[in-house]
Amino acid sequence: MTPPAQVYSYDVRNSLSKRPLLGFWRVMTGFHRLYLLAVAALSLSALFSTGATLLIREFIDHQLPRPDLAQIAPWFALAFLLLAALQGAFSFLSGRWASKTAESLALRLRDAMYDHIQRLSFRYHDKMPTGELLSRATSDLDAVRRFFNEQAIGVGRILILFAINFTALLLLNVELALISVIVVPVIIVLSLFFFGKISAYYEKVQEQEAVLSTTLQENLTGVRVVKAFARQEYERNKFEKENFEQYQRGRRFLMMHSLFWPLTDVICFAQMIGGYFIAATMVINGTLTPGSYVAYVSLVTMIINPMRNLGRLIVDMSTGLVSYKRMMEVIAEDQESLIDGTYKPTGDLRGDVEVKNLTFGYDPDTVVLKDISFSVKAGQSVALLGSTGSGKTSLLGLLPRFYEYSTGSITIDGIELKDIPRGWLRGQIGVVEQEPFLFSRTIRENITYGVTREVSDAEVYAAAKAAAVHDVIMTFPDGYNTLVGERGVTLSGGQKQRVALARTLLKDPRILILDDATSSVDSETEDDIRQALLRLMKGRTSFVIAHRIQTVMHADLILVLDEGEIVQRGTHQSLMAEDGIYRRVVELQTRIEEEVEREVTDGIGLPV
Ligand code: UTP
Ligand code: MG
Repeated sequence: MTPPAQVYSYDVRNSLSKRPLLGFWRVMTGFHRLYLLAVAALSLSALFSTGATLLIREFIDHQLPRPDLAQIAPWFALAFLLLAALQGAFSFLSGRWASKTAESLALRLRDAMYDHIQRLSFRYHDKMPTGELLSRATSDLDAVRRFFNEQAIGVGRILILFAINFTALLLLNVELALISVIVVPVIIVLSLFFFGKISAYYEKVQEQEAVLSTTLQENLTGVRVVKAFARQEYERNKFEKENFEQYQRGRRFLMMHSLFWPLTDVICFAQMIGGYFIAATMVINGTLTPGSYVAYVSLVTMIINPMRNLGRLIVDMSTGLVSYKRMMEVIAEDQESLIDGTYKPTGDLRGDVEVKNLTFGYDPDTVVLKDISFSVKAGQSVALLGSTGSGKTSLLGLLPRFYEYSTGSITIDGIELKDIPRGWLRGQIGVVEQEPFLFSRTIRENITYGVTREVSDAEVYAAAKAAAVHDVIMTFPDGYNTLVGERGVTLSGGQKQRVALARTLLKDPRILILDDATSSVDSETEDDIRQALLRLMKGRTSFVIAHRIQTVMHADLILVLDEGEIVQRGTHQSLMAEDGIYRRVVELQTRIEEEVEREVTDGIGLPV
């Protein structure tokens, strides 16, 4: 089965509106007819059902005493069956159409949400907790689905039933009809009051729901840390606290609900009794016939019930509307455009990079990079060295436009980065992240993740060999088809890094960024990788962040960063001639290595 074609024919972002009901109506684009049919079918079904009730009433009141009962009874039975069958048929149709509408819209919204979330900027994801997004994409979406399936259809049905029965009542007796709807404004005002209250409480419930889901998600992601520090008790208390808060919020929310229902019931019953009383007085005074009285009594119940339900629905709708608002808050966030920029790419980039007076911070108050300037020719390599938190990752994160800078300039081949469309730019740059992430797919799928074309096994092997991970992969039970993660092998930190490296190498980028990409790899393997990279990186610009001098020393340009500033620059030779951080680091590392070596040599003589 394929999804209905119209599901994807509408861009959900067009439905953003200050007025949620209008927003809902717009989201339903393509399903309006189906929705109205569902409402109509449900109303018809309700009418047949009241018809059947009236028929029984008629039979008991007027037909039962007749002498020729035996002859008419079968006809009544037949008519009753017919009405019941019609009622069932229309109720079925309505359910079918309503669920098709609701499920299609849920499908549309879910896909739109997923697509949108992955197009949001890094900046947004930094600020928005994962659990919050999860709860908006699941729990809130479900409330919206229920709104379409139950409340939206219900409101239509109630309005139709009310209109029909009210017209019948008007035809019967205008005065009585008006008296019977006297409480309608009261109910509406009351519903709106509770609508506001319940919306507010429900919003609080959903907010806390997101806190809970963030807590759970963090706990699951950090399960190793929790166990390693034996902090289960602490984590449980933390969760219990949040959970109890949710309990209280949930209680307040339901309290409001349970306050509202009896209140409207009392009002409706008072209205009904009052109506009966007035109508009865009219019969006594002779202004109303007994027959009309009986009809009035049955019609009034048919009008009061929708009135009671309308109040409930308005209040129930508050949940759908609040959830809709929460979802739309995410949808309203600007996407990170992949096609912005005036530059029209003609071929691959060459890779001349120039950074001039660049100052950058993740938020306006804190400066992470201060007045950075350097330039590198295509094909050259740049190494970045610096203490932790000095801004190395931040600096290189600007090149693929993960974040936007406001002061200074970065150009590639003389083109300002802001003018180069992100999607294309990222196709030209390969990044091995500091903490690479692999998907729960096969190793092969992970390595080929960055390329859209068909890739031959030979190419995959070559990339894996360059990353010094081919031999390791071959020892796995299914080789390249071994699953990574929960359902497959758990890779070591160094293996993960090397698979990520292979993934980037296969992409064959013009500019390569290796952010501490070999930090979890032993020196010998790192040496293998370095040799392979030297071959591979010919003619490409590369940026390497590393702490080991062996990795850094061969670079054409070495930049030493400290607190967001370049404090030293040059080649290995020139920096060794200077008195500064670089030489100190080199001396320290050599001393440590010598000591280790000495210990190993001395250790040989030790008893085993
Ligand atoms: P970096 O992440 O650029 O430092 O953060 P680094 O040089 O790469 O450090 P190591 O070697 O990997 O450890 C530089 C500063 O930017 C802040 C950090 O708090 C740090 O002070 N930062 C980083 C943010 O404010 N937001 C981020 O998303 C990342
Ligand atoms: Mg870093």
